[in-house]
Amino acid sequence: MAQNYWNTALYEQQHAFVWQYGESLLELLAPKAGERILDLGCGTGQLTEKIAESGAFVHGIDSSLSMIAKAKANYPQISFAVADARNFQVEQPLDAVFSNAVLHWIKQPDAVINCVEKALKPGGRFVAEFGGKGNVGAIVQALLSVLSEIGCEEPEALNPWYFPSIGEYAVLLEKQGFEVTYAVLFDRPTPLEGGSAGMVNWVEMFAGGFLSGLSDDVRSHVINAVAERLRSALYRDGNWIADYRRIRVVAIKNSY
Ligand code: BEZ
Repeated sequence: MAQNYWNTALYEQQHAFVWQYGESLLELLAPKAGERILDLGCGTGQLTEKIAESGAFVHGIDSSLSMIAKAKANYPQISFAVADARNFQVEQPLDAVFSNAVLHWIKQPDAVINCVEKALKPGGRFVAEFGGKGNVGAIVQALLSVLSEIGCEEPEALNPWYFPSIGEYAVLLEKQGFEVTYAVLFDRPTPLEGGSAGMVNWVEMFAGGFLSGLSDDVRSHVINAVAERLRSALYRDGNWIADYRRIRVVAIKNSY
């Protein structure tokens, strides 16, 4: 995945919305007691724990060592492990794979879907939400233009995110043996924590891929210039509102 080291304290303090919004995705998962469920990209484990409350046997995986260490510390009774979403295996076939706010970090969706398909029982469900086409579009545009202005020749090549349309993602799922039973793309303007520092904090936390290789001074110039450029569109009454767009899908592994 694009980012293997996360500041988990900052993540839990200032970006709790990542799993708070994900709670409504649990309604689509509808976990049942006794089911075997994988939380793919579990982060610090908050939604994994909610799944466990249903009585399902849940296992959380994440590519980040620091996230898994924090998940284990938060919920020692739940099983967590470091694993790559593009290359994982499970011991016994699963009833469901759940994933919230992670798949946009992986630019090889075919590899992920292949692993998910192999992990599920026939008839098993894949329930996922992540950034969809146009997600954080104004933020991406601001990053690309500021980077071009400082002489970066191909800033798009630095873009760490995968934000597909419903059509694009449904085709990938169908090609690998899934039936898509639900898919939706929707705007979800997302207030950022931190008041006037919210956008700078967000870019520092999540957009590091665009900024790798820059000196500290240039990096800080780019981050501040991006926030300035976005102010008129995304700053209201002392709060930053990020232009999130989500894609949600439910796909069932074919039984034949
Ligand atoms: C998202 O959840 O949509 C997202 C989070 C961080 C970076 C990019 C997108």
